[in-house]
Amino acid sequence: MTKSKTQTRPQYDVKDIALADAGKNKIDWAEREMPVLRQVRERFAKEKPLDGITIAACLHVTAETANLMRTLKAGGAKLALCASNPLSTQDEVAASLVKHDGLSVYAIKGEDRKTYYSHIIHALAAQPNITMDDGADLVSHIHSHWSAAYEKVLGSTEETTTGVIRLRAMEKDGALRFPVLAVNDALTKHFFDNRYGTGQSTLDGILRCTNVLLAGKVIVIAGYGWCGRGVASRAKGMGGHVVVTEVDPLKAIEAVMDGFQVMPMKEAARKGDLFITLTGDLNVIDAEHFKLMKSGAIVCNSGHFNDEINLPALKTLSKKVRTVRPFVEEYTLKDGRLIHILAEGRLINLSAAEGHPASVMDMSFANQSLGAEYMVKHARELDHRVYPVPTPIDEEIARLKLKSMGVEIDTLTAEQVKYLSSWEQGT
Ligand code: ADE
Repeated sequence: MTKSKTQTRPQYDVKDIALADAGKNKIDWAEREMPVLRQVRERFAKEKPLDGITIAACLHVTAETANLMRTLKAGGAKLALCASNPLSTQDEVAASLVKHDGLSVYAIKGEDRKTYYSHIIHALAAQPNITMDDGADLVSHIHSHWSAAYEKVLGSTEETTTGVIRLRAMEKDGALRFPVLAVNDALTKHFFDNRYGTGQSTLDGILRCTNVLLAGKVIVIAGYGWCGRGVASRAKGMGGHVVVTEVDPLKAIEAVMDGFQVMPMKEAARKGDLFITLTGDLNVIDAEHFKLMKSGAIVCNSGHFNDEINLPALKTLSKKVRTVRPFVEEYTLKDGRLIHILAEGRLINLSAAEGHPASVMDMSFANQSLGAEYMVKHARELDHRVYPVPTPIDEEIARLKLKSMGVEIDTLTAEQVKYLSSWEQGT
C-alpha cells in the first residue's frame, strides 16, 4: 500500500512504514497473552459477523489494540483506526497494521493537536457503521459536525470511564443520535483493566521515565475509583507511603479502611514526593497546590485527559522550563522551587510505557469485539442511550479467561440453586 491520497483521505498516515516488521513482532508477542480474544477471532473468522460493516476506531494504537483490529478484520469488518491520544501511539505497531494487515491507520506518536483532529476526520471519512471510542472523541466529533454521511452509524462502543461520563451527559441532554455500549462498565473490563492494568502500567510509566525509588516516598493519589485503587495498592506494595485525595465520601471511607491516609489536596500538596491524578476531572492539581509543593516534587496524570493538572497555571508560576529526561520537564518556579511534570500531563502509562499488559486488555478487547457484534445485530432495536454490555457477554468472557488460566471453580448443586431461589428457609 502506498501513502497516495484518495479524493477524501490518505490511505494512511504513520511515522515510518519501515518500522512495520518490528511492530509485527510486538503485536505477535502481545497475542500470546490474549487467549480470549484469540477464541473470539477464531469464531469470527468462521462466522463473519461483521461482513459488510465498516468500523472507525479511535483507540490507543498499541500492540493490544492491533490484536483487536485483527479480530474485527477476521470478522469481516473494514477498518479505519486513529489515535485516541497524541502521545500513546506505538509507531511500529501503526506501521505494521498498515503493511501487514492492510488497515487505514492515522496515528503518529507526538502528533500536534491539528494533526490529531485531522486523523479523527480521516478515520470518520471511512463512513463507519460502527464507531469505537476510547474517550468519546469520535462520537463527540460526529455530533458536533453532524452530516448525512453519519446517518450510516448504527451505534458506538466506549472503552473508558471518562468517555462513558461524556456520553451519559449527552444522553441526559437528549443529544445522542445513536445507541452506545459502555464497554468500560462491563465487570470483565473495569474490575481488571482499570484496577490491575492501570495499577501496574502507571507505575511502569513513572519508573521508565524517572527511575526513582518508590520505597519511602509519599505518593499522593488523586481519585479512588477503580484506577486509583489499583495504583494505590501497587504503590503501597512498592513501599510508598500512600495518601489518597477524594471528593466522594464513600470512596474516602474505603481508602481509609484500605489503610491509606486521606486528606484534602491542599494538605497533601505539602507532603507529597510524587503526585498521580486519576479523577477524570479538571484542575485537580491547581496553582494553589503548586504553591505549596516541596521542591523536586514529581507530578503526573493517569486519567484520560491532560487537564487534571493545571499546566497553564504552572507555566505562569514558573520562570523556566526545560526537558531533563525523555518525558520529564523541570519547571523552575519564580521562588526557585523545582516541579517535575511527566509526559506533559498526558496518560503516563501510555506515554512513557506501553499501556496495560496484554493479559488484561484481552478481556477489555473481547468485550469490544463482542460488543461490536452485538451492536451490528441489535443497534436498530435500541434507543439513543448508553447501554451496559449484556451480562451473558460479560459472563462468557469471565468463563473463557478462567479456562485459559487453567483455573476451575465449583458449580452450585441442585439443592443450593433451590435454596438461593427460596425465601421460606431461615434459621
Ligand atoms: N489502555 C490502557 N492500556 C492500553 C493498551 N495496552 N492498549 C490499548 N488501550 C489501552
